[in-house]
Amino acid sequence: MSELVINNHKEVSHINPEVYGHFSEHLGRCIYEGIYVGENSDIENINGMRCDVVEALKELKVPLLRWPGGCFADEYHWKDGIGPKENRKKMVNTHWGGVVEDNSFGTHEFFELCRQLGCKTYINGNVGSGTVQEMSEWVEYMTFEGVSPMADLRKKNGHEEPWTIDYFGVGNENWGCGGNMRPSYYADLYRRFQTYVRVYNPDKPIKKVCGGANVDDFHWTKTVLDVTHDHTLPQFHGFMDGLSLHYYVHPEGWEIKGSATEFDEEVWYKTLSKALYMDELVTRHGHIMDEYDPDKKIGMIVDEWGTWYTCEPGTNPGFLYQQNTIRDALVAGITLNVFNKHSDRVKMANLAQMVNVLQAVLLTEGEKMIKTPTYHVMHQYRYHQDGELLDSSLTNVENITAGEWSVPKVTESVSVDKDGIITVTLNNLSVDDKETLNVTFADGDYEVVESTVVTGEIHEHNTFENPEVVTEDNFTDYECKGNKATINLAPSSVTMLRFKAK
Ligand code: AHR
Repeated sequence: MSELVINNHKEVSHINPEVYGHFSEHLGRCIYEGIYVGENSDIENINGMRCDVVEALKELKVPLLRWPGGCFADEYHWKDGIGPKENRKKMVNTHWGGVVEDNSFGTHEFFELCRQLGCKTYINGNVGSGTVQEMSEWVEYMTFEGVSPMADLRKKNGHEEPWTIDYFGVGNENWGCGGNMRPSYYADLYRRFQTYVRVYNPDKPIKKVCGGANVDDFHWTKTVLDVTHDHTLPQFHGFMDGLSLHYYVHPEGWEIKGSATEFDEEVWYKTLSKALYMDELVTRHGHIMDEYDPDKKIGMIVDEWGTWYTCEPGTNPGFLYQQNTIRDALVAGITLNVFNKHSDRVKMANLAQMVNVLQAVLLTEGEKMIKTPTYHVMHQYRYHQDGELLDSSLTNVENITAGEWSVPKVTESVSVDKDGIITVTLNNLSVDDKETLNVTFADGDYEVVESTVVTGEIHEHNTFENPEVVTEDNFTDYECKGNKATINLAPSSVTMLRFKAK
């Protein structure tokens, strides 16, 4: 029996809504088919965006969307994706499946999608194969209000008003697909490129994100900060607002990856243990950031995270299409609890990717769309957005060992919203054991006002034939009295409870 004490008056840090952000790349069927079907499609759409997908995403309260990549970002030349569609350049998406990219989804379409979703925008610029001029002109095209060559071009293309760029990424994975650079070389390029990401409207500052490390490349983090930190001082406000980090969970390693749906119990625990590794990564990269930025002004931007399996048999390997089971629900629950706990430093995180790619929240097939187990967890956790992390501690938690892998049976995070409602999210990592959790609020009496669970046999997943095998269900297996609650967590489950003071 584990014990959770919630210090309900001790707020620790703010949970930026952007921690629940998403990522959409020109990769496989994420943008095309998954989100954008074009105005002439038989699938119901508004300005080319699938209505079913947009509606489902709105229920998640998607706070922010990153685009156009990923590796695609450092091959993307934005001028190919503006103007009349029939004149837009067709090119080969060399990185992802060698398919034709007709550029029918470009800058205008991205902002239209974000308008429909009501979310913030995160544009990733091209450092690897682009120029400073190209990047600078893109920013001018998107955000300059007055008379200028790029603002005039935007107006000619039908958009009078400038858009808002909330975040701008200066390159992506520049240690790899974004140019195979060494950290000091990239850091110098960052200094140069970011200079020309001009903020034309001081009321709408663009937060600049510097390309960070892959997984445990602490040398990258240290070197990049070393080369740039003289400009991270207050007088260089706006020089760097975020430093990114990418981490994917591959159950069997990068080469083999492993099946999305066929795995044994040991691989279940191995996968969850690898998901928990996010905590160590955020902590250790965070310590390096603390050396240069003790006041935590620069956010850690985990702009790609999620599971990455061997793609579904029979699909294009370059499309990264995979199924999504209860295991993915637990990976999401564990990882989001880690981000909440580190919300003093982690200011944004983007699940990779939004539709039909990697740990997607939605899958589509023609006109059909299904919600994955990960979708339901993101829906449970939406209440943490914009909340204040509360001090909470778990004791008496059993450790589960399988082969060389070991995980705690339960993980948690707790936040309070503006109305004083406390959201508790709990994961039971055990394949077959229930767990009774005793909760104590340090002060005051509480009642449960909402509670749901996402659970099932560990391989369960939704298909187009059976779309509701895994859903978010009402949860009733608890008792709440005074300042205490006893909660019976089902095996392999993600449970969310909301408490209100009596
Ligand atoms: O999300 C798929 C790919 O993973 C992205 O394009 C790249 O940034 C990362 O390696």
